[in-house]
Amino acid sequence: MRVAMIASEIAPFAKTGGLADVVASLALALERDNQELSVVAPAYRSVLRGRFELEQIGRKLSVSVGGKPADATVLQGRLGRRITVYFIRNDHYFDRESLYSTADGDYLDNAERFAFFSRAALELFRGRPLDILHAHDWQAALSIVFLKAQQHLYPERRATKTVFTIHNLGFQGLFPEPDWHLLDLERHWFNPRHLEFYGRINLLKGALVFADKITTVSPSYAHEIMTAEQGFGLQGVLRDRAGDLIGILNGVDYSVWNPETDPLIPARYHVRDLSGKHACKGALREQLGLADARRVPLIGIVSRLTTQKGFELVEQVLPAALAGGKFQLVVLGAGEPRFEEFFRRLTGQHPERLAVRIGFDEPLAHRIEAGADFFLMPSLYEPCGLSQMYSLKYGTIPIVRAVGGLKDTVEDYDPEKDTGTGIVFERYEAAALENALSRAIEVYAEKPRLAGLRARAMEKDFSWERSAAAYAGLYRALVL
Ligand code: ADP
Ligand code: GLC
Repeated sequence: MRVAMIASEIAPFAKTGGLADVVASLALALERDNQELSVVAPAYRSVLRGRFELEQIGRKLSVSVGGKPADATVLQGRLGRRITVYFIRNDHYFDRESLYSTADGDYLDNAERFAFFSRAALELFRGRPLDILHAHDWQAALSIVFLKAQQHLYPERRATKTVFTIHNLGFQGLFPEPDWHLLDLERHWFNPRHLEFYGRINLLKGALVFADKITTVSPSYAHEIMTAEQGFGLQGVLRDRAGDLIGILNGVDYSVWNPETDPLIPARYHVRDLSGKHACKGALREQLGLADARRVPLIGIVSRLTTQKGFELVEQVLPAALAGGKFQLVVLGAGEPRFEEFFRRLTGQHPERLAVRIGFDEPLAHRIEAGADFFLMPSLYEPCGLSQMYSLKYGTIPIVRAVGGLKDTVEDYDPEKDTGTGIVFERYEAAALENALSRAIEVYAEKPRLAGLRARAMEKDFSWERSAAAYAGLYRALVL
């Protein structure tokens, strides 16, 4: 089967979150499953300036955006042994400081940038056979819309089947109606059954309507997005497509996230010998200037600092909890200025207990996963979440809310039966988070129980093989 994945992020070339990890590791797992695969992504600044081996291919792509010609060249990179990653290069659109936005907000021409990207991706495959086009998130949604709504422009693609994966329904690619002309789509598609959404253009909705199959990144999230609470207004559209919507849990690339082999951490360790983990904790405290408080647990956060990730709850609970002096906390993240400021302020009050690093720092993310005792992820909603799965592997007990993929991957610790892999709480309320933190502090003091919990966590296996097989099965069912 010939599969093309269209995505706006792919690790290690360009990443703002889990999407990048998933696109790369799913591609690698599909390759192991013997699928013939290529990936298309934009040639952002991080791609152009990173130390990657890229080759300029002769092909020049010319497409229309808003009725005007726009050109791209194509850079070719490699992932794994046989996967070609094509980077669509147009420096006006993609050679910028960030991928989607700056501190001043989203780039104003995002509709144009990703319409261009989707058109160019389709153009790249012209004249080549393709069984499956698999697009991820709103940035690639138009590739499916263009293919299906404008079959006259892509006559050779009639047999190509489409799969769309929702990584986060909170980001839909919403644009004002005057941007419509940028898409070069016939006006009649701007209606509530297709791309119109309360007067605006909704790119993700377009893909939900046109894709042959829709997947999302955990079974629980597949259910949740069909409800009013978590459907972000698209629950009706998703319910209409319930028969074509499935939740496939993301996996982990254990060649990158594994404490036995991780080159980014100061000492490696194993479920049967955790001395390296203790060394990692000491080194992390020292690096961050935290007091050497041996009897209290170190809790880690590595996250986009957004409402989705539960930071409104953290804001309510943390000041008093930290003042209690029963744990230390390290935070690595960037996001909404409000939350960045909250952490900066709080660290000023508790420099010996709270270390905050604002920014994106991959090596530090690994060192936190390895050095912390617990990993906090109290998300308001969570399509899948990768960090909690990384934490399990690193023996860093996740403290999570029972929602989406968190619910599907972390089992609550039961002190009576001595089962479970993490601390799970239900309600999105301050008292519930406070209680979860107290439970964590309690189990930390009971060393044999902590050891059991850690061992069960580390032995959990979320490798990609099963999920990749589910995607491959889906492709096969579509093509047969
Ligand atoms: P999401 O994709 O919603 O942000 P996930 O848990 O799926 O959440 O994936 C987050 C990924 O991004 C993880 O690999 C995590 O380590 C990484 N990450 C998030 N914030 C940072 C940061 N500030 N620095 C380094 N890595 C980060
Ligand atoms: C999104 C979600 C996250 C998921 C990731 C990869 O960013 O917020 O839960 O793990 O995509 O699918």
